[in-house]
Amino acid sequence: MIPDPGEYSPVEAVFRPDALGRAVKLRGWILRGRSSGGIVFLVLRDRTGSVQVTGKRDVLGVEKFQAAEHVQIEGAISVHGTVAEDRRAPGGREVRADSIEVIDAGEPFPIFSDQTEEFRLDKRHLAIRSQEHVATFRVRAELLRALRGFLEGEDVLEVATPLITANAAEGGAEAFQIDYFGRPGYLAQTGQLYLEALLFPHEKVYAVSTSFRAEKSRTTRHLTEYTHLEVELAWAGLPELLDFTERMIVSSLHELAQRRPKELSQLGRPPEELLALAVPFPRITYREAIDRLTAKGLPVEFGSDLGTAEERALTLEESSPIFVTHFPAKLKAFYMLKTPGEDELVEAADLLAPEGYGEMVGGSARETDVRRLLERLRATGANPEDYEWYLDLRRHGSVPHAGFGLGVERLLRWVLRREHIRDTTPFPRTPSRHTP
Ligand code: 4AD
Ligand code: MG
Repeated sequence: MIPDPGEYSPVEAVFRPDALGRAVKLRGWILRGRSSGGIVFLVLRDRTGSVQVTGKRDVLGVEKFQAAEHVQIEGAISVHGTVAEDRRAPGGREVRADSIEVIDAGEPFPIFSDQTEEFRLDKRHLAIRSQEHVATFRVRAELLRALRGFLEGEDVLEVATPLITANAAEGGAEAFQIDYFGRPGYLAQTGQLYLEALLFPHEKVYAVSTSFRAEKSRTTRHLTEYTHLEVELAWAGLPELLDFTERMIVSSLHELAQRRPKELSQLGRPPEELLALAVPFPRITYREAIDRLTAKGLPVEFGSDLGTAEERALTLEESSPIFVTHFPAKLKAFYMLKTPGEDELVEAADLLAPEGYGEMVGGSARETDVRRLLERLRATGANPEDYEWYLDLRRHGSVPHAGFGLGVERLLRWVLRREHIRDTTPFPRTPSRHTP
C-alpha cells in the first residue's frame, strides 16, 4: 500500500526556520547507519537533501537496524518523528523518530571507498547514487535545460532526426553497422544532414539526439554513444555561426551557475568561474594554431590534424574557450564550404575548451553548390547515389546556411573538470563496455 504522498515532507523541509519542534513524516533511502549506546543513527536521503534520524531502542522498527553492522545500508524507510536541534548533526538538526517503517531493509551495499574503478563501473547502476553522481546529473539536466532555453529564446525549432540511417555521414570507418532486415544500416553519427533538410521549411532548427561513434580509441574524451546537440541556421556563414555558438555557451553556463552553484562548487568548479565567461571567445586560424604549436615545441605540418596533445597545448593556459577556424579541406567532411579564394581551406571551426580539455563543438558553413558537393563526395570515395536525397536539398531552394554539433558530455567534462568523459553520463558506452 502506498500512503498518500501529501503526508510526506521533503527532507529539505526539516531545515526550514519554522520546522523546529514540528512533527514530520519523511521517506527515502538510508545513506549510512550506525548504532551506539542503544541509539540508532541513520542518515536519510531523498532528492532534496539528507538528514540525521535518531531512534532509541524502544522506537518501533529500530530493532531492524540494531543488528545492522554495515555502514552503508541503502535500505528504504519512512520515518515519523519530530524535528530537533542537534549541534553535532550536519545542518544542526535531526529528526527524532517515533516510528520507523522499513520499506526495504536492504542487503549490504556493495560499494564503499577504496574499490577499483572497474568494480564501480560494473556496479554503475548502484554507484550513481553517490553524492558526486547525484550532483553531476543535476548539473547535466540543468545544462540541457539552459541550452534548450537559449535556443527557444532564439526561436530555433526543436526537431527529430533519425538514429538509423542508410549511409554514414561523418566517415564510414567510425560508423556502427547494423543488419537492417538484410540490408546494411548505420547508427547515426550525426543528425546534421536531416537538420539541413528541416532547415528549409523552418530556417532555424536544432536537435538533441544520440550520436554513435565506433571509435576504437580508448581515450578520456571519447564515448561510443553520446548526446549531440546540433543546430542549423539559414542565412548564416561562419562568422554568424561563431557568434551564435559563443552566445549559446556563455548564456547557458551563466544560467547553470545561477541555478546550481552548490553542485558546481561541490564538483570543483566555482560558479564564479562560469559567470566570468564572456563573448567574444578568442578566434585563431588553423595556420595560427600550428604556428603557436611549433613555437611551443610541438611542430605540426600544414594538413595534419590537431590531436589531443595539440589541443591540450593550445588551451592549457586559457580560461576561455577558443575557436580554431579555417582548417585544411582534406581534414574535414565533404559538406563544408570552401573558403573563397583559398581553395585548400574550409569555412569550419572547432571550439576548444580551455584548461586543456579540447574540442567540444565542431561546425561549418555548408556547401550549397550541387556540382561542388558531388566533386567532394567523389573525392572522399563515397557513392554519390547514397546521397541523392541530400543533393536534392541543393536543387530546390537552397540558401546559405551553417551549423554545428556540440558534444554535451565534452562540454560537461570541462565544466565539471572531470578527468574522464564517462563521469558525465550515467551509463557510459566505451569500446570495452556496454553494460550495465
Ligand atoms: O566534430 P563532429 O564529428 O561534427 C559533426 O558530427 C557535425 N556533423 C556536427 C554538425 O555540424 N552538425 O562532432 C561534433 C561534436 C564534437 O565537437 C564533439 O564535441 C562531439 O561531437 N563528439 C564526441 N563526443 C564524445 N565522444 C565521441 N566519440 C565524440 N565524437 C564527437
Ligand atoms: Mg570534430
